[in-house]
Parts: sequence; structure tokens; C-alpha cells
Amino acid sequence: MMNPRVLRSEKLSAPDAMRLEHDEMRAQLVSASMEAGPIGDAARRVARLCVPHFEQEEKLVFPIFELLHSLALGDVQREAAAVLPLVSRFCARHDRLHRHHKSIVSAIGALLAAAHKEHNREIATFAQRLWLHERTEDAVIYPMATLAGNYVREALGLRPRCQEDRKTRRSCNIAASGQMVN
Ligand SMILES: [Fe+2]
Ligand SMILES: [Fe+2]
Repeated sequence: MMNPRVLRSEKLSAPDAMRLEHDEMRAQLVSASMEAGPIGDAARRVARLCVPHFEQEEKLVFPIFELLHSLALGDVQREAAAVLPLVSRFCARHDRLHRHHKSIVSAIGALLAAAHKEHNREIATFAQRLWLHERTEDAVIYPMATLAGNYVREALGLRPRCQEDRKTRRSCNIAASGQMVN
């Protein structure tokens, strides 16, 4: 018999704004991957890393945000059954997702460098937007997902389970020039 908590969490989906942003990034990755030469090579490497990463975020991270309004209204009990399995899965994979970001940011650096070299402003702008997307997730979205999970657990009298590892929180920084800064 299926666990009703799992059944309910499976019904949660990512907020539209988050899914649409991924969809737009995917579309631009497809377009950039069709470029010839070093830009196309670099874009295809970014796409190989980003496409499965986006899918994991849409399953493990973004659905937690569908509950934020309810949590902000203090409706913890009603939403707890749905968010706890999600938070457990996110916590278990947090470090792996963070490592994805480091690899993706490195690949974006190569794409940005190729775009600068070929004076392709459109691709350079896209690379910077994608970098900003990953940085925002790392600096805001992932910690918010962690906080939401811990908030629910504490409200239910459970110990907070998910903690960010300071060592894994090092820099995914990349300068606008395309140079990596760590
Ligand atoms: Fe993402
Ligand atoms: Fe990401």
C-alpha cells in the first residue's frame, strides 16, 4: 500500500515561474548548442550538465516552494505531510546538487570566454543569465528550501535535519569578464 505522505508529495509541482525560467534556459541552450565552433562545443557541454540537473531540481527542490505561501500563513500542520518527504530527498542530495553547480559554473565560464572571443554578445548575455540563475539557486533557493524544511520539522516538534555544509558552500563565482574567481 502506498504511503499517503509520499503520494501527496508526488502531487506537488514546481511553481510556474521557476519551471518557466528553466524552460527558457533549456530553449536557449538548444539554440546555443547549434552554433558552430568553440561556442557550440562549450554550449553543448553546458547543456549536458544542465539538462539532467534541471530535471533533478524540478523534482527535488522546486516543489518545496509550492508550499511557501501556506507556510507563510502558518498553516504548517496541513502541509507538513507533503513537505517532509520532499525535504528529506532534497537534504540527501543537497551536496550533489551543489557540486553540479560548481561544474556548471565552470562550463559556463568556458562558454562565456568563447562568446567574448567571438564577440557574440547574445551568447555572452545568455551565459551570464545562466550563471546568475545558478548563483541565485545556490545563494537563495537552496538555503530557503533548507529553511522551509527545518521550519516545518521544528513546528512539528522534530529536530531540524538538514544543514548546509560550510565546505560545500564555497564559491561558484565567475566574473563578468569570464574569468573564474574562487
Ligand atoms: Fe536551476
Ligand atoms: Fe541549479
